[in-house]
Amino acid sequence: MGRICLAVGVGVVGAGCVQAGPTVEEQRAEGQALYQAQCVGCHEVDGGIGVRLTPQLLTGYNTAQALFNYIRFAMPYQQPGVLAEREYWAIVAYLLDARGVTTLTQPLDSGFAPTVVLRRSP
Ligand code: HEC
Repeated sequence: MGRICLAVGVGVVGAGCVQAGPTVEEQRAEGQALYQAQCVGCHEVDGGIGVRLTPQLLTGYNTAQALFNYIRFAMPYQQPGVLAEREYWAIVAYLLDARGVTTLTQPLDSGFAPTVVLRRSP
């Protein structure tokens, strides 16, 4: 997958490293911070104008790619598309994990996300 330098750290492209992407944990942590800063105010508070992002709602998107596509196209509502692609991936990864929709075995990206099928937990 071209990720031969995970041990080197976040975003560090050192000698001989092709690309050091985030680990699953790093991506989720970044997503959590971004979600708190960018999304919670509308989606997780009483009186917020966005609906609660429940597991049922998230699985309705069918794949992690489809959820990403919507969020990147439409959110945050007041300023869609303002975040970096990496940040949108992180938010989606965090949401899927935090809502118990799926346990990611590798960081989300455009290669992996179409294969991540979202199913309701039994
Ligand atoms: C300013 C308030 C606001 C902020 C900030 C915001 N949203 Fe939303 N969100 C909305 C509203 C309003 C809708 C309904 C939009 C519509 O139906 O056109 C929505 C819809 C959504 C939906 C689709 C819900 C469905 O019914 O399928 C998702 C997913 C979502 N937001 C995720 C996010 C994420 C992730 C962030 C942070 C990056 C975010 N939103 C930030 C207000 C907000």
